[in-house]
Amino acid sequence: MSYCSIRGAVTVEENSRESIFENTRILLKDIIKSNDLDLESIISIIFTATRDIDEAYPAVVAREMGIVHAGLVCMQEMYVKNSLEMCIRVLVNVETDKKQKDMKHTYLKGAVKLRPDLVRRDFVSVAIDGPAGSGKSTAAKEVAKTLGYIYVDTGAMYRAVAFYCIENGIDTGDDFAVENSLDKIDIKLKYENNEQKIYLNDTDVSSDIRTQTVAKGASNVAANEKVRKVLVNLQKKIAENNNIVMDGRDIGTCVLPNASVKIYMDADVCERAKRRCGELELKGIEFDFDKIKQEIAERDENDKNRKISPLRKADDAVFFDSTNKSIEEVKNEIVCIVKKAI
Ligand code: DC
Repeated sequence: MSYCSIRGAVTVEENSRESIFENTRILLKDIIKSNDLDLESIISIIFTATRDIDEAYPAVVAREMGIVHAGLVCMQEMYVKNSLEMCIRVLVNVETDKKQKDMKHTYLKGAVKLRPDLVRRDFVSVAIDGPAGSGKSTAAKEVAKTLGYIYVDTGAMYRAVAFYCIENGIDTGDDFAVENSLDKIDIKLKYENNEQKIYLNDTDVSSDIRTQTVAKGASNVAANEKVRKVLVNLQKKIAENNNIVMDGRDIGTCVLPNASVKIYMDADVCERAKRRCGELELKGIEFDFDKIKQEIAERDENDKNRKISPLRKADDAVFFDSTNKSIEEVKNEIVCIVKKAI
C-alpha cells in the first residue's frame, strides 16, 4: 500500500449552495469512478475555493456521498490577480496499491484551463436519440444519475429558442426572423439539486418550455440550419470536458459521431401518446388523446423529413424499443450496455 494524491478542479456557474454542491458532487464522483476508489481508501480531502465562493462548504457533499472517515478541510484559495474565478479545487489523498503516476486527475468545465496537461480525454459520452415520447429523456436522466454523469437535454435548447421567438412575436417558421434573433439569445444549462435547468438570457425557463405550443415551435426552429449550428457547437463543448448522457434527435449522427455508446430509442406511437397524456393528467391539464397522437405523429414527420440533420438511427447505434418497458427496465438495460462498452 502507498499514499497517493489525486488533483481535481471544477468551476461553478454561480455562488449558490446548489451550484457549489452539484459541481463538487460531479467532481468527486468522477475522481472516485475514474480511479476506481473505495470510499474507505480516502484518507483526507483538502478543498479550496476561490474567494468569490462563500455560500457553502464543498466538504458537505463528501459527507453526503458517504465519505465519512476521511479528514476534510475547506480553505480559501490564495488570490492571484487575473486567476480563474469561481473555482473549487480538491486534493484527494488515498491509500492504494497503485502508483502516483497512475492516478487519474479530473479537471472539469472552466477548470480545464488550469492543467491542460492533466485533462483526461477519456470522458464517456452516451448519445440517446429518438422521437418524442420514446422515453429517451426519462431514460437518459436516470442513466446519468446512476452513472454519475451529466445529463444534457438538447431538446430543451431548441425549445428555449422557440420560447424566445414566441415571447417576442417572431414566427418560428420564418427562418430569416429566427436567424436574426439568434444573437439576442443566450442559453445556459445549469445543474441545481441534480436537475438540469435551462436559462434563457439569465431567466430560468425550464417549466415554461414544456407546452405543446413551444414543442411545435421547437420542431420549426430545429429545422433551421443556423440555429442548429449554434446549438450543436454548444452541445459539443459541454461533451468535451464531462462524462455525459445527451439526448436529442441528431446526437449519434451529428453532435457526437464518436460517442462511446449510441442508442436509438423508439416506441409504438399509441404508447407514446399515452405517456404524453399521462404527463398532462399529472399536471391537471385537459387533453384529447387522438389530438395528442396526431400531434406526435406530425412532429415525427417534421423531425424525420427535414433537410438538415433529420432524426435517424446512426449506423452504429443500438436500436432500443421501449414499448411495454418500465423506466427501471429501460435504465438497467442501458446502464448494462454502457458498462459493457467502456
Ligand atoms: O425532445 P423535445 O421534444 O424536447 O425536442 C424539441 C424539438 O427539438 C423536437 O421537435 C426535435 C428538436 N430537436 C432536434 O431537432 N435535435 C435535437 N438534438 C433535440 C431536439
